Amino acid sequence: MKNLPFPARHPGSSSQLDSSEKHLKMNASRTSLNMAAEETLDPDDWSDVQVLSHRIVDDAVGYLRDVRSRPVWRDMPAKVKESFLAPLPRSPAPLADVYGEVAQNVMSYPMGNVHPRFWAWYMGSSNFTGAVAEFLAAIQGSNLGGGNHAAALMDEQVVNWCKEMMGFPPSASGTLVSGGSMANIIALTVARNSQAGVDVRELGIAAIDKPLRFYGSDQLHSCHRKAMEALGLGNRALRRISTDAELRIDLTALRRAIAEDRAMGFQPACVIGTAGTVNTGAIDDLSGLARLAKEEDLWFHVDGCVGALIAIAPKNASKVAGIERADSIALDPHKWLHAPFEAGCALIRDASAHRGAFAVTPEYLETASRGLASGHWLHDYGLQTTRGFRALKIWMALKQHGVEKFGRLIDQNIAQGHYLSTLIEAEPLLELVAPTSINIVCYRYHPHGRKKEELKALNTEIMLRLQENGTAAISDTTIHGEHCLRVAINNHRTRREDLQLLIRETLRIGSQLLQTSRVA
Ligand SMILES: Cc1ncc(COP(=O)(O)O)c(C=O)c1O
Repeated sequence: MKNLPFPARHPGSSSQLDSSEKHLKMNASRTSLNMAAEETLDPDDWSDVQVLSHRIVDDAVGYLRDVRSRPVWRDMPAKVKESFLAPLPRSPAPLADVYGEVAQNVMSYPMGNVHPRFWAWYMGSSNFTGAVAEFLAAIQGSNLGGGNHAAALMDEQVVNWCKEMMGFPPSASGTLVSGGSMANIIALTVARNSQAGVDVRELGIAAIDKPLRFYGSDQLHSCHRKAMEALGLGNRALRRISTDAELRIDLTALRRAIAEDRAMGFQPACVIGTAGTVNTGAIDDLSGLARLAKEEDLWFHVDGCVGALIAIAPKNASKVAGIERADSIALDPHKWLHAPFEAGCALIRDASAHRGAFAVTPEYLETASRGLASGHWLHDYGLQTTRGFRALKIWMALKQHGVEKFGRLIDQNIAQGHYLSTLIEAEPLLELVAPTSINIVCYRYHPHGRKKEELKALNTEIMLRLQENGTAAISDTTIHGEHCLRVAINNHRTRREDLQLLIRETLRIGSQLLQTSRVA
């Protein structure tokens, strides 16, 4: 540790106290003779902590190095589940024992998304550098509400890098948030306020002249419903527009819905395009939506939580062409940048509209001309006041690998999605249930002559067995009424042989189930 470049001593440390400060210190220690000894959370002996910390880091390195040899997921024994019912600890325990409990009861039973064969729902697979960054961010402990310190400048730098990756102008603004859902809420709040025609912050939504209408496809992520509800506009103000065979928003149906709404006295306000739907990865025609939004005077928001970062992938970037024309974008560094949870980012083209939606300056948070409060207040761009140092984990991983590697890894996952689709198409007992456009593959085991409900039961059992025997974590969904298994390959550890194994195991379990008639 002694070689680390953290400065050991600064002006103002005890060796340099002037005589009046020394005098004060002596008085203070005399007074404290009559007081109870002061406590701290720091250890009595830092060297013990150092030894234990080295062990924890060694364990952590081994944990990731050997992840492939462990099951993706396993259920917890009753004893482990019961351990989480233990009452509030009142007395201390050695840190080594506390860590031992974590190692045994927590680290051994992960969700599994760092495993090469985790493809459920939609998650990133984290990375070691990001984990080190999380540790350092907590050690520094800075609050990213803003201020004049290095972490705050880095937060702004990472937002600038996100703008650059999306092709947004330097004049745009943005904020790092907990994830995609929050990034969408931030952007839709700015959209609502900009389109309301009244000062919504002061007067509330009841003062809006005509009820606002937002639009998105029938494949929109559920976080938009939550956003509409939280914004006081209500779920019904979000019209779900039908999708074509590729599950992309139908622009003709969208124009029709907008015209209908205008005729009925509503105010069409915002269209949400999706760059990678959660169900199948379909990417709306973003250039078409940008044109339409301009013609109809709508705010154009892109939910790019799944696919915005395809913009950095050399082989596939054209799939998200038009994203740079959005008024706002939500993207998710904890997905295709594999930042450890949580990290989302909202970008807004019009920085003053962004600030105008959230900034408040209470007397205790005024900007000073010098000193700690002379930096930007980053809390003016979102709902939180205290903010964590999320930027460091994104910054360190981008510095270490370079953005081009992340682009190649995105191309790799998309190629793997298409590879898996060809494996499925080659098997008579398997079928693709939706077209594969990027890295999400929807398929099912489909023996001849089975009814829909039988197929659902059969495929659900296949999914559960794959999870329970630790082979692979996949999820399921229903697309235009058809139930299917869903494989979302957002994983820098996946290899082609993992996908071959998934197909072999799907067929093996499927045939076993048919033979034993466990299902259907
Ligand atoms: C298209 C889409 N939008 C939004 C979200 C929500 O993102 P988060 O889970 O980071 O809140 C997701 C999550 O997978 C998503 O797929």
